[in-house]
This record gives sequence, structure tokens and C-alpha cells, in this order.
Amino acid sequence: MRKKIVAGNWKMNKLADEAVALTSELVNMANDEVKGDAKVILCPPAIYLTTIKKYIENSPNFSLAAQNCSDKVSGAFTGEISAAMLQSIGVEYVLIGHSERRQYFNETNALLAEKVNTALANGVSPIFCCGESLDQRQNEDFIGFVKNQLTESLFHLSTEQILSVVIAYEPIWAIGTGLTATAEQAQDMHAALRAHLADKYGAAVAEEISILYGGSVTAASAPELFASPDIDGGLVGGASLKSREFTEIIKAR
Ligand code: G3P
Repeated sequence: MRKKIVAGNWKMNKLADEAVALTSELVNMANDEVKGDAKVILCPPAIYLTTIKKYIENSPNFSLAAQNCSDKVSGAFTGEISAAMLQSIGVEYVLIGHSERRQYFNETNALLAEKVNTALANGVSPIFCCGESLDQRQNEDFIGFVKNQLTESLFHLSTEQILSVVIAYEPIWAIGTGLTATAEQAQDMHAALRAHLADKYGAAVAEEISILYGGSVTAASAPELFASPDIDGGLVGGASLKSREFTEIIKAR
């Protein structure tokens, strides 16, 4: 189902008391703003998922996402967290393929396809991240590059499976840089990705898949971005660490 989603990726930030304080502030400030099938997804560091789950249990439109999961089912993989473990504590979503994991942890499209499979097999919905670098945008077929990320990591899925996936387009050159893509730039890529999904799964299915924009989303840029026909919300980094600004972004969806 194509939902309006605003997700906050906290990355490796907040100590325990700060994480609880931010969650409490958000629930108190934003709870009344999130109605119907709109959704707010909090993506805290994994260590806080169980604690934060308790703070949002009376806020039905709030959900939790992990920032990563193993491609393995279980076993001798020290430090890893499995999709089954996430499901066992009530985590509904997991970020897969964030550019920082691709860059710093060498995650390939093939590995990410396995992570998608493991998440879906355990009832956890992937938020699949894709996007091009500045060099790719300036020097090559960047739309083809991003479409191929979907082809290699998602297009083995059945129609039923792909309907459980949320896609997040995050141009790498906009992440953490303050350089937000213009609404036109973002809409152009979202439309291309939705057309790519339609080529594979049919227009009706493609219309049901939420495609989020991420990359320096702020309270100022969110309204124009979210007004675009193929932008179904945002995956927010830095601004999600500030309860008032993140609430303004939620209001803009
Ligand atoms: O996953 C969202 C993140 O990559 C965007 O970060 O700080 O540019 O909003 P930021």
C-alpha cells in the first residue's frame, strides 16, 4: 500500500537518555499530526530498539526500523543482528543498502538482495536505499545506475514481496551536505524508478510502492518535495535528531 511515510534515520547518534527524550518529545509533539495510513518510522541505533518500542506502543502510526540487518539467518557471525531477532522484538522495518553501508562496509547489490530476502522471510519490511554519487550524476547515466540498483537487489522478488518493500532514493551528494536535491530533480528520479518498477511488475503494482526521498531534507524543503506526485515522504537524517524540526517535516507530508 502506497503510504505517506516520514522516517528518521538517527544513524550512530544519541546516548540512551537522549534517545528516550527525543522519542518522548516526538510522540508528544507529532502524535496528533499523524493520522489515517500516514506513518512515522523511527530508525534508532539497534541498541535502543527495545526501549523505544515501549515509548511508541500507544502511537499506532509510529513504527520502528533497524538501520541494518544481517544477510545470514543465524549462527557464528559475531556482532551481527538477524532479521528474525528484529521481528522478535516487534521491529517492522529495516533500512537496507544505505549509502554509508555501501561505502564503509562494502555492501554490494548482490549482498543487499540476500538481506532483502532474509528480512522478507522474517516479516520485516525492507526500506531499500539507492542513489548516485555526484561524479555519477555529472559524468554518466546516473538514472540507469540507480535503476540497476533496484534491478540487481529487488527484481528477483515476487509481486507480493515487492509490495512489502519501501524504496528510499538518496542522492549521495545530498546526504549530510546541506545540498538538498531540488523537488524537480527528486521527482524526475522518483518517476523514473516508478516507471522501472512498472516495467517489471505492472503499473498498478508500481503505483502502490512508497518511494521516499532522502538527502538533507529540512522543514523548509519538505513541503515542496512532498508535494511532488511520485515522492511519498522522506528518509531524514540530521533533521530527525531535532524533535521540533522533525515534527515540522512530519506535518509537511
Ligand atoms: O538516511 C537518511 C540520510 O542518509 C539523510 O541524511 O542528514 O542528509 O538528512 P541527511
